[in-house]
Amino acid sequence: MSASRNASIKHALGLKQILNHEISDTQLASHKATIGVALLYTVREFDEKDIETVLDIISEAFTDEISRGMPTPTAEKIIEGVKRSGFKWFVCETKERGVAGFLSMIEGGLEHPAQIHLVAVKSEYRRKGIGKALIKRAIEHAKNLRINKIKVFVRPWNTSMRKVCAELNLIPEAYLRKEFLNENLILYVAFL
Ligand SMILES: CC(C)(COP(=O)(O)OP(=O)(O)OC[C@H]1O[C@@H](n2cnc3c(N)ncnc32)[C@H](O)[C@@H]1OP(=O)(O)O)[C@@H](O)C(=O)NCCC(=O)NCCS
Repeated sequence: MSASRNASIKHALGLKQILNHEISDTQLASHKATIGVALLYTVREFDEKDIETVLDIISEAFTDEISRGMPTPTAEKIIEGVKRSGFKWFVCETKERGVAGFLSMIEGGLEHPAQIHLVAVKSEYRRKGIGKALIKRAIEHAKNLRINKIKVFVRPWNTSMRKVCAELNLIPEAYLRKEFLNENLILYVAFL
């Protein structure tokens, strides 16, 4: 390992100590994996001030779904949803450029598994571990609530999301035909 790479990792470890409550081990691991591009980020709960960025990410990431009839959530609906019990929203914030991705989930309960509802990362920040970090946070959250299963529906052609699922040990449980916007879906699950 080169001296400069070592120095970057030491720098990240120092920052972890300083920001102990903001950077978890999983996020640091992701950061170390992407140390080459020196992207430092943290996953935290959604705050109302994030709404504009989250709406921008939704319209960029779900252009196809929106054009085919998926209702676009409004700021009011999201803020109202965040406050409702049983729902949770997280954002991933980069040190320099603010919010780069978000995830919304249904927490589930005794009778139902948790469900990752929406997850998206701004296109310029993709493939840097942010999607995975958000999903790991959702899994941690479900585990803390003692939920024993988490699920997410993925369209078969969404190779990015399918790779993320596979790398996080979510397994395909069902193939659902014409389930969403007249398209097929794969149901991925993890047992927690
Ligand atoms: C799916 C999505 C959230 C993934 O976010 P991301 O931040 O790019 O994901 P990560 O960087 O954590 O990627 C993790 C792994 O997935 C794989 N991956 C991600 N994007 C990929 C791509 N475009 N092509 C191939 N592999 C990809 C890589 O193997 C990567 O692992 P590695 O970096 O360790 O090799 C993002 O692509 C996105 O916002 N897509 C549009 C919205 C969407 O489809 N949401 C999911 C709906 S179910």
